[in-house]
Amino acid sequence: MNLLPDRNASRPGDDPIFALNREATQRRAAGEKVINATVGALLEDDGSLAVLPSVVTALREVPAQKAAAYAPIAGVPEFHQAVIRDLLGGTSLADQAVACSTPGGTGALRHALSLFLDPGQSMVTSSFYWGPYGTLCDENNRTLTTFNTFAPDGTLDLASFERTLDETAQKQGRLLLFLNDPCHNPTGYSMSHAEWTAVSNILHAQSKRVPTAVLVDVAYLAYARDTKSFRAHLEPLTEHAAVLFAWSGSKAFTQYGQRIGALIACVADPKARTATQNALAYASRGTWSNCNAAGQHAVARCLTDAALRAQVDGERERLRALLDARVTAFNTAAAGTGLRYPRYDGGFFVTVFARDAKASAERLKARGVFTVPQPGAIRVALCSVAGADVPALVTALAECVD
Ligand SMILES: Cc1ncc(COP(=O)(O)O)c(C=O)c1O
Repeated sequence: MNLLPDRNASRPGDDPIFALNREATQRRAAGEKVINATVGALLEDDGSLAVLPSVVTALREVPAQKAAAYAPIAGVPEFHQAVIRDLLGGTSLADQAVACSTPGGTGALRHALSLFLDPGQSMVTSSFYWGPYGTLCDENNRTLTTFNTFAPDGTLDLASFERTLDETAQKQGRLLLFLNDPCHNPTGYSMSHAEWTAVSNILHAQSKRVPTAVLVDVAYLAYARDTKSFRAHLEPLTEHAAVLFAWSGSKAFTQYGQRIGALIACVADPKARTATQNALAYASRGTWSNCNAAGQHAVARCLTDAALRAQVDGERERLRALLDARVTAFNTAAAGTGLRYPRYDGGFFVTVFARDAKASAERLKARGVFTVPQPGAIRVALCSVAGADVPALVTALAECVD
């Protein structure tokens, strides 16, 4: 007798990236020289987790009664206002925005799937994507359809993007798109202004035909070169579409474990906006109920208390510089090696294209270099590699990836 229904009977018990990280940690503990480029968290050059000290202080300073109490189901209003102002301040989107607190950006992605698609329908994203997008779809009885990420010249494949949206719209009469930009995981790519303009025009045309929701996953925004100008390309879209943001405190505030996040939904029509807000709160009640209260209060203060904010921004600037130095070291070392990878100018990850990613990753692993194989590529988490190890990492990639 099967205790579990078929769809749950043979789930993989371990996330493959966490399993690779465990193996790398074990080999390092046994005395081997290991380069571990699997971890999706920013590490200091000494291998410890990079943490913003003033955020830790802000968390400690949340009054006990506030931290211990349930947060409102939709989330702490001051947190919502602070995030909306920080993300969208100065744009027309800010006045059309409602928010719902979620456990990390992951929770925001989950709510977008459940609100904007019917069961059995498909969301659209790029062919290179963060693996949990697929898990979230599967777990929520949705599916995933991809467009080809890169054209042969290395730019976004806009023809495939348009075609995939068209076909999906015709098939199911509704669209939900996940765009992870800037600093896409896993490729490291950030769209150019020209690409954003083209994407916006295609989406605007689609949104006149079928109900459309465009979600921008901004998990890595705080580490991008340009954190503001992409918003202008989204402003025209609210004429017909919902513009959503999966906001995460994990990377921006180096608080991965506090599970601080929000879904921001920008909807022009006030009635539809209220309906969206209600549906978000309802979805929260039906999943995790409410989210970490202390985390929301602390981040709200980090964003609104001028002195504290200046401290947090200064500390984050040091981390951005740490990461940027690794990115520059990677690009410098890779020049002339023949390694094929997308334009990479910032962010936690880069992806090196490979004909046989599995075999390439195995060869790297045999040399003590841990990366994450994906279909057609190797994901390299530079965020977790010491700056001094980057040249050796690139040499190993050049010799092992084909
Ligand atoms: C592309 C992308 N989106 C969203 C997230 C969500 O992270 P969290 O749930 O910790 O906020 C991550 C985390 O690794 C990510 O890589």
